[in-house]
Amino acid sequence: MKVLAIETSCDETAAAVVSETDDRAKPWRLDSNVIASQANIHREWGGVVPELASRQHLRDVCGVVERALADASATWSDLGAVAVTQGPGLVGSLLVGVAFAKSIAWTYGLPLIPVHHLAGHIESLVLQHGELPMPAAILVVSGGHTSLYFVPEPGRYLLVGRTRDDAAGEAYDKVAKLLGLGYPGGPIIDRLARSGRDTAYPLPLPRMTHADRNAPEAVASGLLPPSVERRVDFSFSGLKTAVQRLVRRLTADGHTLTDGEVADLAASFQRVVIEALLDRTFEAARWLGARSIGIAGGVSANSRLRADAEARGQRLNLPVFVPPLALSTDNAAMIGAAGLRRYRQGTTAGWDLNAMAALPL
Ligand code: KG4
Ligand code: ZN
Repeated sequence: MKVLAIETSCDETAAAVVSETDDRAKPWRLDSNVIASQANIHREWGGVVPELASRQHLRDVCGVVERALADASATWSDLGAVAVTQGPGLVGSLLVGVAFAKSIAWTYGLPLIPVHHLAGHIESLVLQHGELPMPAAILVVSGGHTSLYFVPEPGRYLLVGRTRDDAAGEAYDKVAKLLGLGYPGGPIIDRLARSGRDTAYPLPLPRMTHADRNAPEAVASGLLPPSVERRVDFSFSGLKTAVQRLVRRLTADGHTLTDGEVADLAASFQRVVIEALLDRTFEAARWLGARSIGIAGGVSANSRLRADAEARGQRLNLPVFVPPLALSTDNAAMIGAAGLRRYRQGTTAGWDLNAMAALPL
């Protein structure tokens, strides 16, 4: 079966065609993957402006879907289903995709499959590499999310940890903004950090313990021993504030940061973020008895995160999987993959399907 997938949860209008294969170990094939990025529109504002995003989705969605079909050499009658991101995301943006997918499914009499955006990021790994050795520990790290899942079998996602405040990608974007580097900040910091010294500035490594005041209820209850169940949460807003204070101190006497200082700041910030992400992911993997680790979402495009994760995995003899760059940041191919998984689990949506900004997985 071929599925047309549509993703409009944030600032990329994306459509893809994904087919099922006969191979259970590598269940899906990518036929086309089209993305219209709005980064140039939002750059001027230093971040995504929701109202501008939904209007731009409206302008782009028809062309993007037509192009996805053409690239796949497919016609409407080749399709067996339509998959769409139902949430989480910006509600105005999601609504464009959901309404569009519904009309196509209605017009051609096709089943409609609702997909959770983070299930999409997780399944981007399977789309590329085939089924991972199970059980797996999978970190989804993007501009909106930093969540760690235990996947005991394909298609079952159990949350074991998540950020208590900012997502890691959000921290990259905010730090880039306060260094005057532009949007989105992740790829810029990634590039600048290569020429910086990562120990130039001591920055605090955020670490959650069971003793934190006002700690929310642990999400990993029952999955991890009580002594460690809270230690897999993340926190990045304190780190961002530490960078902000440091920059203020360095520039207090009217000094303008040199290119070298900016590179050192980028490298020092990045080292701390990546250590926090990988420490927690590898610790959780050990406690959960995971046989593989996956890292997906926009921040998984980061060159140092990929290299460090790979090196740790090799040391521990634990295979580490990341998506190719085109499937790291938001795309519809991953929604097609997760959609086919859900369809085979027996889930379809009715015509009352609605976008949900805070859809739980
Ligand atoms: O998954 P994604 O495209 O959208 C969300 O679902 O949020 O992730 C976008 C995030 C942005 O915060 C962006 O700065 C970050 O991913 N990002 C990176 C890199 N490329 C994108 N962060 C660090 N290094 C990168 N190379
Ligand atoms: Zn995403």
